[in-house]
Amino acid sequence: MASTSQNHQYGENVIVLPPTAQLQALLTLIRDEKTHRGDFVFYSDRIIRLLVEEGLNNLPVVPKEVRTPTGVDFNGVSFEGRICGVSIMRAGEAMEAGLRDCCRSVRIGKILIQRDEETTLPKLFYAKLPEDISDRFVLLLDPMLATGGSCLKAIEVLLEHGVKEDKILFLNLIASPLGIQAVSQRFPKMKTITAWVDAGLDEHAYITPGLGDFGDRYFL
Ligand code: PRP
Ligand code: URA
Repeated sequence: MASTSQNHQYGENVIVLPPTAQLQALLTLIRDEKTHRGDFVFYSDRIIRLLVEEGLNNLPVVPKEVRTPTGVDFNGVSFEGRICGVSIMRAGEAMEAGLRDCCRSVRIGKILIQRDEETTLPKLFYAKLPEDISDRFVLLLDPMLATGGSCLKAIEVLLEHGVKEDKILFLNLIASPLGIQAVSQRFPKMKTITAWVDAGLDEHAYITPGLGDFGDRYFL
């Protein structure tokens, strides 16, 4: 059965990108099983860029006055705090370049979490985060949100390192309703920004219709 539309009724802490024709066309390209790796990477990167821009739109700003070369003052704004990225390896690493394109020398931490393919439960192997992460806004990166287990574990790691829940923005390409509910209800102060919410999960806890294994399609 084909699935194209989405309706969502999540809390204010969930932002789903506007389903523009462009976004739907890009998602169609990366969902297509016939799309080869080069195109998969190119079009995924285009969507990742939209997600990063929306993430940055959600960071707080403070007033800032500057003098322009015409000698006139301009009442503008500047970002209120410092940021960093944290990617959930492996697939989340695909989103790092998109973040770097917008935030030149951004620090990026890594959390290695892998789903056990038998049980679908997440296992934490490794975390390396910026020392001053507790002072920063964190853009948490993972393209796929299926059961939510991996994302929940990553958020626990961030909180253990002193990150404030309301300073976490989770950037995600495709979510399942179960995953988005699990994450947004357990951590209501954190923001989730996703490009699309799919119909559900299959018997292997893969997102359906989904796009298969994102990490395999992007990196292998
Ligand atoms: C994928 C994906 C998420 C996780 C989502 O990673 O990138 O991290 O599964 O599933 P969940 O919401 O049910 O936890 P995976 O563990 O397959 O590793 P990979 O990044 O190496 O592909
Ligand atoms: N990981 C993926 O890459 N895809 C899914 O659908 C679920 C987990």
